[in-house]
Amino acid sequence: MFRQFFRTKSLDAILLEAEHQSNKLRRALGPYDIVMLGIGAIIGSGIFATIGTAVAGDALRPGAGPAIVLSFALTAVACAFCGLCYAEFASLVPISGSAYTYSYATMGELVAWIIGWDLIIEYAVGNVAVAIAWAAYFHQLCEGIGVHIPAWLAVDYRSAVQASHAVANAGGQIDPSLLLPFEAWQTHPRLLGIPVIFNALSVGIVAVITWLLIIGVKESARVNNIMVIIKICILGFFVYAGAQFVRPEHWSPFMPNGFSGVWVGASLIFFAYIGFDAISTAAEECRRPSRDLPIGIIGSLIICTVIYIAVALVLTGMVPWQHLGVADPLAAAFAYVNADVSAGIVAVGAVVSMTAVLLVFQYGQPRIFFSMSRDGLLPAYFAKVHPRYKTPHITTFWTGVAVATVSSVANINEIVELTNIGTLFAFVLVCLGVIILRYREPDRPRAFRTPLVPLIPILGIASCVYLMAGLPWVTWVRFGVWLGAGLVVYLLFGWRRSKLAAKTGN
Ligand code: ALA
Repeated sequence: MFRQFFRTKSLDAILLEAEHQSNKLRRALGPYDIVMLGIGAIIGSGIFATIGTAVAGDALRPGAGPAIVLSFALTAVACAFCGLCYAEFASLVPISGSAYTYSYATMGELVAWIIGWDLIIEYAVGNVAVAIAWAAYFHQLCEGIGVHIPAWLAVDYRSAVQASHAVANAGGQIDPSLLLPFEAWQTHPRLLGIPVIFNALSVGIVAVITWLLIIGVKESARVNNIMVIIKICILGFFVYAGAQFVRPEHWSPFMPNGFSGVWVGASLIFFAYIGFDAISTAAEECRRPSRDLPIGIIGSLIICTVIYIAVALVLTGMVPWQHLGVADPLAAAFAYVNADVSAGIVAVGAVVSMTAVLLVFQYGQPRIFFSMSRDGLLPAYFAKVHPRYKTPHITTFWTGVAVATVSSVANINEIVELTNIGTLFAFVLVCLGVIILRYREPDRPRAFRTPLVPLIPILGIASCVYLMAGLPWVTWVRFGVWLGAGLVVYLLFGWRRSKLAAKTGN
């Protein structure tokens, strides 16, 4: 039985299967689309929202202060190690499914299942966080142009209750970061005696994105390209317009909470980098995966790092770092220097950017389910391809339903931390996979080779574990419970139904 857990799918079998499947996806994407897909996934609520908590900290954690630029640099280095490993895998196994497929070929079915299960955290749970941040910005934007959406339709119930307690404890003083949930608490209606507070805005945006993805890849990629150009322009605008308000004294003390602040900041701001790996899920829809994927992964990582460091420098130069613990720190920075029009422009940019992120992750998750189902680890029902649009419409639909439902009730900070730990764990397994495959199949052609193996993968593993260690213990517990639940599902379903098991007879 022990051996069966480690049965691997041969790379040749994987490649052949994809070529001969009747449920094949359409090869419509080129290298430009792929880099754009990457930037679409990377720049989002991390730089527009999470950066606030990472700089200022919260009741439980110290913030990085102006040294957030070091947190960004640290995280970028970790992602670069992992990105180089991802690129080798992606060019070697150019199949829909991401780290899940790669680990099936290298570390066996059990690890593949664990990683596929774990990737649900990165994609679907991550998107829950983005949808919640999207709703907060969108609500503010509507208020700015005079359209009132009730606050009880833009936050979750628990945040509203917590805000009411926090305000009561502060003797009626309302912290700016609590304005929206507190308003929701004060104004919510009741239905049959039950308080009605849920995030209808996040449900709405997820529904629109899901529909867009069901009707086709190329159409969606085009929408994504336009959104990426807009968000690069908006962040460029932030750096250019904000630079005029920078006061260098705000950068001192540079490291107000010492290196532990930088560390905690890095473990949070990692969220801003998640996405470059999502590119690999598009492998089956690339025209030339061996060339397009490495270009996409490394290219988008470099572009985003340069942008993030510039934004972080300007942001912490504009406003004293303690003031940045709000839901919309970039817009708030302009409001702080009384540049309200600029604040509005940045808020529009945030909404556009997060929409692009939602698009890429809602695109990636169904394709992972699709691969798992094609392998028999999930019911065959999920591997259906739409006869006309050629998209995995069943998994796309159910991913949309799940993300929308959870986003209507979840708390963003907890969701960000869970996303980070799950993603970092997946990265660890990918780095490990590169080493294993180099020893097991050294001669297999690799369109892209990770340099200095095993040093780079080992550094990737070490840096991911370091970032995971910066997350609170309760996040570790939640992650453990999630993996445990996945194991139970595997033992009850996938282990017996696996197509590989049927073929190998064990
Ligand atoms: N990197 C993505 C974002 O920041 C997940 O929204």
